Amino acid sequence: MSTTPPAGPAGRTSETERADGTVPFAPPPDLTDQDLDVLLKQLGNLVTPMAVRVAATLRLVDHLRDGATTVALLAARTGTHAPTLARLVRHLVVTGVLEGDGEDGTLRPTRLGLLLADDHPAQQRAWLDLHGAIAHADLAFAGLLDAVRTGRPAYQGRYGRPFWEDLSAKQELADSFDALMSCDEDLAYDAPAASLDWTATRHVLDVGGGNGALLAAVARTAPEVRGTLVELPGPAAQARRRFAEAGLDDRFAVVDGSFFDPLPAIADTVVLSFVLLNWSDEDALVVLRRCVEALEPGGRLVVLDRADRAGDGSDRFFSTLLDLRMLVFMGGRVRTRDEVIRLAADAGLVLAAEGGSGSRTLPFGFSILEFVLAPVPTPSAKEK
Ligand SMILES: C[S@@+](CC[C@H](N)C(=O)[O-])C[C@H]1O[C@@H](n2cnc3c(N)ncnc32)[C@H](O)[C@@H]1O
Repeated sequence: MSTTPPAGPAGRTSETERADGTVPFAPPPDLTDQDLDVLLKQLGNLVTPMAVRVAATLRLVDHLRDGATTVALLAARTGTHAPTLARLVRHLVVTGVLEGDGEDGTLRPTRLGLLLADDHPAQQRAWLDLHGAIAHADLAFAGLLDAVRTGRPAYQGRYGRPFWEDLSAKQELADSFDALMSCDEDLAYDAPAASLDWTATRHVLDVGGGNGALLAAVARTAPEVRGTLVELPGPAAQARRRFAEAGLDDRFAVVDGSFFDPLPAIADTVVLSFVLLNWSDEDALVVLRRCVEALEPGGRLVVLDRADRAGDGSDRFFSTLLDLRMLVFMGGRVRTRDEVIRLAADAGLVLAAEGGSGSRTLPFGFSILEFVLAPVPTPSAKEK
């Protein structure tokens, strides 16, 4: 059976290709009908993903590594119903996550199962933990059909509040979200901050600035710049703490507020970092217009986002996965660079620079687009 993937458009090499040229997640082209039937059952069933998530939540792999190698011991450690846990374990053995026998003390994680260890660097356990922000939100995928029918997010229907309001109100979800996202904040924010030219900036307004990680990075690269961060109350409190601890509170003000309302400061640089993808075109346009109102004459809007390089065949699995999460969690969407530029044009902005001016490569497929106000068209000679 060949494992060569279908060639990507224009024969470009995909970012997600393995060294041997195969693409994870793309089904090999020459599977038998029987293989395809099995594949669809693996892709389409909800039982296995939920079983894996329950295993992650109960930390079964850590308990197994700690010597709880029977179902009875595992049930005692996890406070679960032993006969029912045995049924879960049977499915995890069949699907190759665990191996051995739950009765005779030989139960253990497979190489695949070891990825669910809490200390595994890939952090899969935390992502799949049903008490964690992402797996908790993923449960709203039960409403994907409605989301596809209406274009509206499913999260609020399940949890009673929009995603960000829920996170702002629930500290444990917010902590889990920050832990999952803050893979390496220095790497994540220092590179974009350093790649921008701050020489003409006196005041930066970070709109939906989260816990202040980006402004802290700006402070490291441009010590003269002062700023304001506007956020919902939960993250705003975190940003305030961060700036106080770093001795930056005299340079960066934090304001509780919504970016759908008039913004609290006028600035020569307004930043929208990983905000637009959370919103529908309609809502994103409102936010962009608020940013435009907050721009000093001659100022710039910096949009830091994840670049979806649609069409070049790269990173399609993760990009579409993120896109559907944006839909279900928040009604948002992953946009291509051109889509962001078109949306910004609707708010009266034109692209002035791209990628920052520095030479540092941006991590994680980040993109930077710098916009300025579009020139107001002068009346033509005929019209005068
Ligand atoms: C994906 S996070 C990005 C945070 C930060 N800009 C960064 O790059 O790390 C989106 C942020 O938007 C904030 N947010 C959501 N709705 C908001 C609103 N109506 N007004 C202000 N901030 C909001 C959320 O609290 C969250 O911190």
